[in-house]
Amino acid sequence: MVHLGAILGAAFAATSAVSARPSPENSLGSTKKRAAAAAAGGGPDCPDYASHATSHAHEPFSSGRYRLPYQRPSASCRRFQAPEVEATIEAMRKLVRDPDLFRLFENCFPNTLDTAIAWHGLGEGTADEELTFVTTGDINAMWLRDSANQLQSYRSLLRPVSGKDKASPSSSLSSLASLFRGTINLQARYIQNSPHCNAFRPPAESGLTVTGGFGGGDIVYPPVAHEVVFECKYELDSLAAFLQLSYDYYAATQDGAFFGKRFKKEEESVGDDDVEFRSNWVLAVEAILATAEEMTRGTYGPDGRTLFSPYQFQRPTTVATETLPNGGAGSPVQAGTGMVRSAFRPSDDACTYQLFVPANMMLARYLAACAPIVAQLGRRHGAAGDIPTTASETRLSNGDAAHTSVNINVNDLFDDDDYSNYRQGHRTRYYHELALRMTDFAETVRRGIERHGRVHHEVYGNIYAYEVDGFGSHNLMDDANIPSLLSAPLLGYVDRHDPVYRNTRRFVLSHANPYYMTGPVINGTGGPHVGTGMAWPMSLVVQIMTTDSDREIVALLQQLLSSTDGLGLMHESISSHDEGVWTRQWFSWANGLFGQMLLDLRDRKPHLLAKSFQ
Ligand SMILES: *[C@@H]1O[C@H](CO)[C@@H](O)[C@H](O)[C@H]1NC(C)=O
Repeated sequence: MVHLGAILGAAFAATSAVSARPSPENSLGSTKKRAAAAAAGGGPDCPDYASHATSHAHEPFSSGRYRLPYQRPSASCRRFQAPEVEATIEAMRKLVRDPDLFRLFENCFPNTLDTAIAWHGLGEGTADEELTFVTTGDINAMWLRDSANQLQSYRSLLRPVSGKDKASPSSSLSSLASLFRGTINLQARYIQNSPHCNAFRPPAESGLTVTGGFGGGDIVYPPVAHEVVFECKYELDSLAAFLQLSYDYYAATQDGAFFGKRFKKEEESVGDDDVEFRSNWVLAVEAILATAEEMTRGTYGPDGRTLFSPYQFQRPTTVATETLPNGGAGSPVQAGTGMVRSAFRPSDDACTYQLFVPANMMLARYLAACAPIVAQLGRRHGAAGDIPTTASETRLSNGDAAHTSVNINVNDLFDDDDYSNYRQGHRTRYYHELALRMTDFAETVRRGIERHGRVHHEVYGNIYAYEVDGFGSHNLMDDANIPSLLSAPLLGYVDRHDPVYRNTRRFVLSHANPYYMTGPVINGTGGPHVGTGMAWPMSLVVQIMTTDSDREIVALLQQLLSSTDGLGLMHESISSHDEGVWTRQWFSWANGLFGQMLLDLRDRKPHLLAKSFQ
């Protein structure tokens, strides 16, 4: 058997090593909240999870025909403990009748908390800047997209945060809500530092150092700080991922105040007269808008001259999808489409054409979804609700919200003209304008997608293209990584019953999609990242989450269950012809998504959890 995962793992070990300075002060950033240290397991006595997850030996085995090992680390070696997650596993034990399917859930759902929370603590010298460093699992760096998705698996377990109640369980550093806030805060730092980059090193406060990265000599414009950035591939969906995570947290907790927090150092006063009133989160949103607006620029100016590309990337490599043509600018893009360029895909492979449709869908949806978060910051301190704000959302059939509009009447804000009101009015106007800029831009992107991102396919009719260039060329395919075309309803961009989506879905799951893999082991989409012949379990999970058909879901669950090579975890990819050939034994994002999918079935199709797969 060839274990590509083991080979890739070894390659990473050679280029990237993580080492922790075991200082309790450093691990917390503040001596005040020692409790969090106890929550972070994974000491030197704990097994290396990369090898742990490659072993079949962990008893007890599941009692079904696949005899899947128990792959969770022992309780003291888990990186973060969340009682809600343990309670969910226990509740699912009663609902999922098939012993192998339950074992898969039990191994996969907590995997991010068990293995990928490398550090959770406070920012240097602040009392409330929670920070969470989430690795992908087998790579010791934090990807914006992966970490947002990794946490998303636990979104349904968040509960409303009560802002006044300091003793509320969700305000403690050891809460799941704190883990979300910490990830949002750290992403906000990264995005302000380097909005074109996809993967980052641990914050100084963690005491962790990660070597490697930068693919051995990447040339990147704009230049970036190597001590912060691990890799700098500009992927539009990384920016959208931050907005998605922010919206997920806000929608579940209603914790609007969090997004206005400034995290000033303890010794600095947070005066009302501060010129800079914007929070870290708001500054990150500004950075996203500035980056995305700039990346709507086309390759040529009105006079035919080639314009300077705001982002350029070149890597010395033999792999075509790891570098960009045209001096690092990528393939030419038509100006004025309304769509935003992306240099790379969520697979970290170069875009063939830079108007990458799935990331534009994700940006359009989550820019609009986050506008109400910005708008509510314009309310008076301590007088929440005194500004007439109406945020209306159209619900999609899958429970996600599609269009969001914000409507604030600024004239209602001023009841007298003293200075305090003037200052408050200034802030309110700022937030109002920022929220409108977000909804307007989201609408422009959406119109661009519908005008330039759709094509007529002679077999499937009107479908979304994977990528277009605005000149009329398009790339018809789908890749397993989210955002994908298949995942468009999960992104909340389109209803899963929408006719264009339905056509697109039939296309994606057919041999007309050059990256749809079939065989006796597993049928699903893959992509150029690992190569042809390899189907990604993640795509089967998305296929389950975007269909109403019981037959389709059962067939897909059967494939997921039977193709783990007996290891009981989600791989990155599996040969559609040989179960023993796979990549990545430890892929936290896919594991979490599998768990999220089964919880979705519990709510949507509970009878399927009672099925036997023996
Ligand atoms: C994949 O699809 C083909 C038909 O294209 C079918 O014959 C095969 O059984 C499927 N494989 C699995 C694992 O279900």
